[in-house]
Amino acid sequence: MRETMKRCFAEKFGSEGDIRTYFAPGRVNLVGEHTDYNGGHVFPCALTIGTYMMARKREDRQLRFYSMNFEQVGMLESSLDEFVPGGEKSWIAYPKGVMWTFEQKGYPVTNGFDILLCGNIPNGSGLSSSASVETVTGVMLRDMFGYDALSNIDLALYGQYSENNYNGVNCGIMDQFAIAMGKKDHAIFLDTADLSYMYAPVKLENAKIVLASSNKKRGLGDSKYNERRSECESALAELQKVKDIKNLGELTSADFEEIKGVISSPIWARRAKHAVYENERTVRAVECLKKNNIAAFGQLMNESHISLRDDYEVTGKELDTLVEEAWKCEGVIGSRMTGAGFGGCTVSIVETEHVDAFVEKVGEAYEKKIGYAADFYIVDIGDGPVRF
Ligand code: GLA
Repeated sequence: MRETMKRCFAEKFGSEGDIRTYFAPGRVNLVGEHTDYNGGHVFPCALTIGTYMMARKREDRQLRFYSMNFEQVGMLESSLDEFVPGGEKSWIAYPKGVMWTFEQKGYPVTNGFDILLCGNIPNGSGLSSSASVETVTGVMLRDMFGYDALSNIDLALYGQYSENNYNGVNCGIMDQFAIAMGKKDHAIFLDTADLSYMYAPVKLENAKIVLASSNKKRGLGDSKYNERRSECESALAELQKVKDIKNLGELTSADFEEIKGVISSPIWARRAKHAVYENERTVRAVECLKKNNIAAFGQLMNESHISLRDDYEVTGKELDTLVEEAWKCEGVIGSRMTGAGFGGCTVSIVETEHVDAFVEKVGEAYEKKIGYAADFYIVDIGDGPVRF
């Protein structure tokens, strides 16, 4: 990867000067979906696939970007005097958004850059390629300008800030946190109410994490993501009239059942129900994993999918087909959609000896029903970002 990138950098920008290389992973969430903007728990992990960035400081304020993943787009040029929050049309919105955020937060970006990107996260798979680009940009800027006071958690928060304020997606903190704080062979049990977290080893004896990409394209900005978030806020505002809470993540399911009657819209009530139950499920799932009870963990993954399908309504026929076909296969411990939904990926835990049959059977059934193929990836849990 490094050699190919080096050649490409030399070709596009020249090979002289202080050229540095960085990496940030993608992420997959094992359980705890659409809880991170409701002050609930999530349980994601970083992957070994991700985004590589090669960068060199310039003497002027120009920005030049080239992505090996979008060669047809070619070189994109901009400058540090051309920030347009909410108005960028191409992928450079992600690195530029983070540069803009550094400026906003009092960490000036005083020089332009030549930047080459190359990622091996499948496009549109919902494995957080955008948060990966944001994080790798943050790591690059911190290193280039010596902003050592910034922790990886700060970089995660800056990535989220940039996504919210530069790119117009009201995402929570899960993706950027999972990426910036990733740890090999561990998932991160994060309480999004206060950002306290714990690493939990994921020791899968005789089983693999298999991702299935629906290949249904999804644009978070124009999807229903922001709508779901505001539906939860509306439910919360009504619940707050009868209970002193800051967010839905503070409610137990028993609390919720007692007071749910004050929610005026049945749709808002279902959204809130998902947020509350999913949060509890996540806490329980991590307990199961700690006790090495993978079967119970898998059962909770399945329940998570059902709730996302029926109450939160973010699955759609592509993700439902992948999961429902997975549930029929021998050796499947658990299967659910992962990430925002409306497309993207499912995550399944599958006994090693049954992985090949799983891929074949689910793949065949998917293509037959949906009309195009899904892609399957057996993934490993990796570390957070690095310069190398
Ligand atoms: C997207 C967002 C996250 C989170 C998930 C759903 O990935 O970026 O913040 O809300 O959806 O769990």
